[in-house]
Amino acid sequence: MAHTPRIALSIALALTLSASPLAQASSALAVEMGCTNCHSNAFHPNAPSFQQLADESAKRRGETGAEDHLMSELRKPRLLGRIGAHEHLSEESARALARWMLDGAH
Ligand code: HEC
Repeated sequence: MAHTPRIALSIALALTLSASPLAQASSALAVEMGCTNCHSNAFHPNAPSFQQLADESAKRRGETGAEDHLMSELRKPRLLGRIGAHEHLSEESARALARWMLDGAH
């Protein structure tokens, strides 16, 4: 498979160059995963808005491990008031959503 590395490289390049289509994909993912049932929903004032979460995570933007940190914060089981939508996220979705929030959740 001589051309496999080249394909991987073009995927990596496409991901780097097309930040905004990726961000759109993640905001759609937030809706699809039910995140907006609580976050950025006036009827759930106890859940921070995505803008607040993005502002909070902005402190760690650019730090190594920022994405992993946010992913584990998100997926860790809470002792009180477990949140299924958090805990049931696949690693892949959690990473995409963490990256989206670190990028400002636009
Ligand atoms: C049932 C309501 C509900 C749903 C659905 C929900 N959340 Fe949350 N989320 C909360 C509440 C309440 C908090 C604040 C309390 C806490 O952190 O336990 C929170 C906290 C968070 C935090 C901060 C975590 C931390 O500890 O710093 C992130 C990030 C987050 N949610 C992302 C998401 C994403 C992404 C989704 C969709 C996959 C989602 N949430 C779905 C209610 C919800």
